[in-house]
Amino acid sequence: MDVRRVADGVVRAGLFADGRPPDYSSPALAEPPVVGEPASLGDLVESAEFVDGRPRLVIRRAEGERYFACGERTAGLEKTGSHQVFWNIDPPMGHTASFNNLYTSIPFVLALRAGRAYGLLYDYTGRVEIDLARDDPSRVVFEATGGDLVFYVFEGPTPRDVLDRYTALTGRTPMPPLWALGNHQSRWSYMSADEVRSVAAEFRARRIPCEVLYLDIDYMQGYRVFTWDSERFPDPERFLAELREDGFRVVTIIDPGVRVDESYSVYREGRDGGFFCLTHEGEEYRNVVWPGLCAFPDFSSAAVRDWWGSLHSWLLDAGVAGVWCDMNEPALFVPLQSTMPPDVVHPGGGRARMHADVHNAYGQWMAQATREGLATLRPERRPFVISRAGYAGMQRHALQWTGDNSSWWEHLWMSMPQLQNLGLSGVAWAGVDNGGFFDDGNGELLARWTELGVFQPFCRNHSAMGTARQEPWAFGEPWESICREMLLLRMRLLPYLYTLFEECHRTGAPILRPLLFEFPEDETTYTADDQFMVGSALLVAPITRPGLEHRHVYLPEGTWHHFWTGDFVSGPAHVLAHAPLGQPAIYVRSNTPIPMGDPIQHTGESSGLTWRVFASPGSGSGDLYEDAGDGYGPSCRRTAHVESGDDGRVRFSLSIREGEFVPSRHITRVQLGPEVVEVPESAEPVVIERLVDL
Ligand code: GLC
Repeated sequence: MDVRRVADGVVRAGLFADGRPPDYSSPALAEPPVVGEPASLGDLVESAEFVDGRPRLVIRRAEGERYFACGERTAGLEKTGSHQVFWNIDPPMGHTASFNNLYTSIPFVLALRAGRAYGLLYDYTGRVEIDLARDDPSRVVFEATGGDLVFYVFEGPTPRDVLDRYTALTGRTPMPPLWALGNHQSRWSYMSADEVRSVAAEFRARRIPCEVLYLDIDYMQGYRVFTWDSERFPDPERFLAELREDGFRVVTIIDPGVRVDESYSVYREGRDGGFFCLTHEGEEYRNVVWPGLCAFPDFSSAAVRDWWGSLHSWLLDAGVAGVWCDMNEPALFVPLQSTMPPDVVHPGGGRARMHADVHNAYGQWMAQATREGLATLRPERRPFVISRAGYAGMQRHALQWTGDNSSWWEHLWMSMPQLQNLGLSGVAWAGVDNGGFFDDGNGELLARWTELGVFQPFCRNHSAMGTARQEPWAFGEPWESICREMLLLRMRLLPYLYTLFEECHRTGAPILRPLLFEFPEDETTYTADDQFMVGSALLVAPITRPGLEHRHVYLPEGTWHHFWTGDFVSGPAHVLAHAPLGQPAIYVRSNTPIPMGDPIQHTGESSGLTWRVFASPGSGSGDLYEDAGDGYGPSCRRTAHVESGDDGRVRFSLSIREGEFVPSRHITRVQLGPEVVEVPESAEPVVIERLVDL
């Protein structure tokens, strides 16, 4: 086996059948592979071999070692004793917690024992299965249906170190435009420009924050990608400009299937360019999706990606702000909810491959094509791309939304492990369909879902055609007011969230993170998947059952303040939180200042800044990162420190503002207990001392 250190704390191993020369190129990698220095894996590997031509890797399990991550997974946080399948699918009628593989496959495992972590990525874009000490408690077994046997081991010792190394190799989440952190509203069946206009008007009239509106497949002419329905969306440019004036951006869906139609230029260009996937016999591979009979771009080819990327000028020129890549597993309708047969050929612009070997990369390549297209067409803007399907490293190209859940309480619960699993697998920018996609919701479910949803890195309400409407006002009061207040809280948290995105962009640290990421030495956190951290300051424990106002919350070591009352509890502790509707259980780490903005309707409105401090005896700090919110210009950062004595004396200090970016506000506020102190905004350090009733 060829074993080499390819980066600090990252060892790569490769076994190549039939004496083939090593080839480590992969869509997982952010940069082309390096040669590396010879290295050793100690006694981690028990065996690595080809059995009947198929790779099989056996890893020794240290006693008490437990397993996490595995990408997009609906079941709980811990994976010890489970068998995981990696093969992208569009599951029939949504998914439940019993499903294993879904739209995205990331064969990455985070191992943890007594606070010490390491990670392992098995790099193959075809089908992989990992048995995590289920069949044999002393082993972890990786099996693939083909390809070479290539894997990477990421050293810790902490989960933070592992994620840092994993995302250095597979790529980091790009900085999003600030507007992408606002509230997004979608529904499959906004049938006309007028209907979208009226949804927009409701948001503004009801004073409910909203930033982005979505056009699902119905904006197109017969579901032909890169077209507009001329009757229902007669003047896209004017329509989008009007919405823009009112502070809205619009994102459009794009599917990979291109309608086979001689009179349709996208099809003709693809066919004439030889850009589509082929059958084993060399014919254009065709299957049915929304538009009817379709051909499918071979996104494994750089030339095809360039072509596809350039097609987005159709959308951007009309004023579209971002693109939502759907059905890119790819999902096909014959047979229903299937995918491409394994022997479909990806010509690959000279490097032909079978679908079986690249299946899990198809959606990721589509997302890459989209991102690169947007970046080329609008180089001064940060691309906004969503993808349903992906592979290891997808975070470089797109955020992940987790597809078709249902408006069920179980799925509200499920979104917590789902997002934590993704966060531990490098995909920090993610979100579920708030309110649930399939089936009818109700007011209480939507309100509770919004209480959780506003803490997701991606906050979007989306629902399916034919289901009950679920815009924030759809179920009347008191639900509408609860949704409004929660979305306003989201807007107030934007400076904190944006700072977390920058941390993620720099280090790979998840934004919404499991408790074990912060407290790896505390094994109680290893299964605490019905609560989560947002950054290191906020602990959120949503209510996910109807009719309940109380729930158990585990608070790890440290002092935690109840967000709504300010009361504090010393952890580790198990508490019964009272969380009536509109006041989800949120705990703030003591002495960790949180930068908060104003309750604005959208990011086009100007916002002040308030450092919110919950103090108790001890000390802590928090950061603020700022820039223009889009583009690639200068940025600035500063750190706030808090020291609180036993006598109630609290000292808040703000470091010098580093960096070239100058925020436009004139004052900064500091909230210490009930008192709000105003200081002029400047680059100079600030010190405030107050006596606070702790
Ligand atoms: C898929 C998507 C869903 C979308 C629908 C129609 O089911 O997952 O979000 O609304 O297709 O485009």
